[in-house]
Amino acid sequence: MSGTEIVLHDISKIYGSRTVLQDLDLSLDTGECTVILGKSGCGKTTLLRLVAGLEEPSSGTLERPKDLKLGMMFQEARLFPWLTCRQNIALGLPKGADPGEIDHWLQLVQLTEAADQYPHQLSGGMQQRASLARTLAMHSELILMDEPFAALDYFTRAQLQQELRNMQQQLKRGIVLVTHNVDEALILGDRLLILQQGKIASELQLAPGPRDLLSPELITAKRSLLAALA
Ligand SMILES: Nc1ncnc2c1ncn2[C@@H]1O[C@H](COP(=O)(O)OP(=O)(O)OP(=O)(O)O)[C@@H](O)[C@H]1O
Ligand SMILES: [Mg+2]
Repeated sequence: MSGTEIVLHDISKIYGSRTVLQDLDLSLDTGECTVILGKSGCGKTTLLRLVAGLEEPSSGTLERPKDLKLGMMFQEARLFPWLTCRQNIALGLPKGADPGEIDHWLQLVQLTEAADQYPHQLSGGMQQRASLARTLAMHSELILMDEPFAALDYFTRAQLQQELRNMQQQLKRGIVLVTHNVDEALILGDRLLILQQGKIASELQLAPGPRDLLSPELITAKRSLLAALA
């Protein structure tokens, strides 16, 4: 582990009669990409919202460094409809940052041509890419991502996953990403956690560096993840 840690201890989250998370223990390193993988409805978003401080646990403790800069990207794009793509991304920039940076983020998510369009003029995937750029522009130490690529087509998704992987490796920004997509977890994650029945049921650590889904290492890892999720 290299970064500051967020530590969840004995966390439970109960909605009415539904126990979503139960006695969950987890330490998150803000220097790596942790992927939380699990089936629909298993509590991934709930866990991420707890880490972000958007929800309180029903019981247990969560330690988060007070001055940690957190950015969150949701399952839906949540752009402001009255602002252009460029203006939405600009909202992410911290005070004093060079506004010229917006062009860099627009380019990274391939929205340079659509910079002056409003959200209703963008496809669902384009909106999600603008949301990703806004989150990246925040310079957060830890970025929380909730299925950020769900709305994208296969090729755009694969390309953005690789871009995000490269960026994370270069900048060493912490990411906690939740997904039900096994390939996405393998491309992006340093540490892969399976959430099942309210707990972290198993864990897999992958080697640093670029990722190739067809490499023997990732094929073996995929087999073990699919077996664990079955
Ligand atoms: N505010 C809430 N009130 C009541 N129940 C909730 C609330 N939020 C989530 N739940 C319930 O908690 C369970 C887990 O929901 P959550 O959104 O965390 O799942 P998820 O793993 O993110 O699913 P998906 O992959 O479909 O996004 C579901 O049964 C859901 O109905
Ligand atoms: Mg969810």
